Amino acid sequence: MIYFIDGKFTDKDQLNISVDDRGYYFGDGVYEVVKVYNGELYTAEEHFERLLQSAAKIKMTIPYSQQQLIEIAKELVERNKIDTGHIYLQVTRGASLRIHQFPDPSVLPVVTAYAIPNERPLKNMAEGVSAKFVEDVRWLRCDIKSLNLLANVLAKQEAFEDGCAEAIFVRDGFVMEGSSSNMFGVKDGVVYTHPATNLILNGITRQVILKLCSEIGIQVKETAFTPEDALKMDEFFMTSTTAEVTPVILIDGNQIGSGQPGEITKKLQEAFSRQMP
Ligand code: PDD
Repeated sequence: MIYFIDGKFTDKDQLNISVDDRGYYFGDGVYEVVKVYNGELYTAEEHFERLLQSAAKIKMTIPYSQQQLIEIAKELVERNKIDTGHIYLQVTRGASLRIHQFPDPSVLPVVTAYAIPNERPLKNMAEGVSAKFVEDVRWLRCDIKSLNLLANVLAKQEAFEDGCAEAIFVRDGFVMEGSSSNMFGVKDGVVYTHPATNLILNGITRQVILKLCSEIGIQVKETAFTPEDALKMDEFFMTSTTAEVTPVILIDGNQIGSGQPGEITKKLQEAFSRQMP
């Protein structure tokens, strides 16, 4: 497998990563996951724009432009002959002896990326999955796509141990998002989702879905709702780069609506599939 690191394309076993990388010590960095369909990057501009924004929010300058990042991703797709899969790209604040404050003099951020085959989750999309409410113990900058994912990892593990595919974060009595996805409920034909504040990641798939809703004529309310409201929804679904639009049919063992993927969810899945490369 060919990876990208520090300006070069290198075989995975030739990679040279410093143990002093601040990604290891502090999770001090940002990342993106970009989907590849039919050998083509999907919504790459949006993902790398968000990467640059995440970096700016943690006062880090990425040594590549949005266009250069897209070129790196494209080359990884070609060199690794990816048809359906994804790109993972992360940038850390660089390698330096372990001190909390930024290195001074500054060091170059370390950019690492790879491309990997990954099939669409067609079974989950057709059948739906179950989820579990978990208390949101994350920090207050969930809008940053940071490498610091310990709370997300623990939440996902808790969900998995309960036989669920995803954890739904609840903060101060309101549904936020999933541990690695955004959450949507549908009630009386209206789609509800948490507004894009500092408390959630404004998913690129979330933004695509909101646009598709407006094109199809489905009403959307970006309003926070409670776990009790969630259980009374007619339909529920989650979105992410890898999960696309996946119905959530069971939460904490409670059936949502009919317990089957809902009509609006299916409409959005079809609309999503239609606009993929
Ligand atoms: N996760 N919320 C969180 C906390 C996420 O980690 C993700 C994505 C999303 C959905 O964002 P998008 O639609 O841009 O993929 C929402 C990625 C896929 C991951 O960490 O693997």
